[in-house]
Amino acid sequence: MSDRTCLSIVLAAGLGTRMKSDLPKVLHEVGGLAMVGHVLKALSGAGADRVSVVTGPDMPALSNLVADLMPPARCHVQEERLGTAHAALAARDALLQETDDVLVLFGDTPLVTAETVLKVRSALEQGSDLVVLGFETENPFGYGRLLTEGGKLLAIREEKDASDEERKVTFCNSGIMGFSGKHALSLMEEIGNANAKGEYYLTDAVEIANRRGLKVSAVAGSEVETQGINTRAQLASCEQDFQNRMRHAAMDDGCTLLAPETVFFSHDTLLEPGVTVEQNVVFARGVKVSSGATIRAFSHLESADVASGCVVGPYARLRPGTVLGEGAKIGNFVETKNVTFGAGAKANHLSYIGDASVGSASNIGAGTITCNYDGFLKHRTEIGAGSFVGSNSTLVAPVVLGDGAFVSAGSVITEDVPADALAFGRARQDIKSGRAKTLRERLKSEKDAKVRRSAKPAS
Ligand code: UD1
Ligand code: CA
Repeated sequence: MSDRTCLSIVLAAGLGTRMKSDLPKVLHEVGGLAMVGHVLKALSGAGADRVSVVTGPDMPALSNLVADLMPPARCHVQEERLGTAHAALAARDALLQETDDVLVLFGDTPLVTAETVLKVRSALEQGSDLVVLGFETENPFGYGRLLTEGGKLLAIREEKDASDEERKVTFCNSGIMGFSGKHALSLMEEIGNANAKGEYYLTDAVEIANRRGLKVSAVAGSEVETQGINTRAQLASCEQDFQNRMRHAAMDDGCTLLAPETVFFSHDTLLEPGVTVEQNVVFARGVKVSSGATIRAFSHLESADVASGCVVGPYARLRPGTVLGEGAKIGNFVETKNVTFGAGAKANHLSYIGDASVGSASNIGAGTITCNYDGFLKHRTEIGAGSFVGSNSTLVAPVVLGDGAFVSAGSVITEDVPADALAFGRARQDIKSGRAKTLRERLKSEKDAKVRRSAKPAS
């Protein structure tokens, strides 16, 4: 983009009324990120310099999220919800500073991309004073209709104010508008509230700009990208569109998805080229998988880092803080949490390994449990490199197993095991030769006697 300055105003003060929710609408999530967070991401991608977010009076969660995601962004409070133009004017302070372009975006349009934001800006650069991003849809209900004549945008008519004829229009307002910095504030200030809802509609800026003889234009975006979310059903359908976008991006990047429609991503999932993902896998927030790793069917991963050559699953659960070294293996019904596995380490079956480190090339047998919690505090288990933990062992933390330690199956380990030591933590086996036979004979004769007693007729 050129060196033109730009103020972006994100309107986010709306309540969750139509969602029947106490949560502000824009905090509802798509791909594990609040809708407004997606809009801020798109703005960052478009190189936005000054960003203002308009919030409602009691929305600390929203202002905290903005501070987290985009610390330089400013929040402005719209005290009363009197419409989108009124909301934009809550950022009056920011609008008073000179700027070339002003963009207004809605916090409930999460799938907008940086490219589309740049398209609106380039229309301003090419001389438009007001640009509206529109989209064609088969189902325009609820959207403002773009009324055009001979390619000129004359007005935007809201659903409730539209005539039957106007309601037939399928070219709709996405809500994203670009204003030339020279006119933005004065256009917004001229907007009144004489309409069906008695609200200050930002969309009225179009007719006012036309009356002033300014250059007004519309650019077209795709419906998927510009859909606005007002209801839970729209949120669910937007989630589907978001998932499809992520699946296609992963495949375009060179990942194999065996059944893409069954793999679910978060907004921040990072798969390197050459990753294979089998059926029914969920990537919750914060997952990175390196090239050449395979995530097998029915696995759930969250805040985990999987190195190249690892095999995870089927049916594995990687919980936050799991870091797998190159070629590590986590098999079926294994749960890991806050743990590092060194290169080539394995836990192939039925285990819980939490608050631990496992050295490279170590083998954790089936059914191993790290007892990390005593009901009050969490404790660590440290397992050295090249060690072997026999099946069904219980490692009671805090405990350290040195490099090359060998724990025999079924052990309860409560004390540290030095390097290369063999630890038994179970009762010794006792063999009584021939006693199984005599035991069976005794048990059989007891049973026979019981059967005889119950068969005797009562005298
Ligand atoms: C709005 C547009 C409509 C467009 C549609 C696209 C207007 C008048 N209507 O309708 O033309 O087709 O979006 O999705 O602009 N907000 C505030 N303060 C307010 C009112 C709204 O901050 O007083 C924020 C909301 O949080 C939301 C955005 O503005 O993020 C849009 O408001 P919403 O009520 O969802 O407008 P729509 O009826 O969907
Ligand atoms: Ca909306």
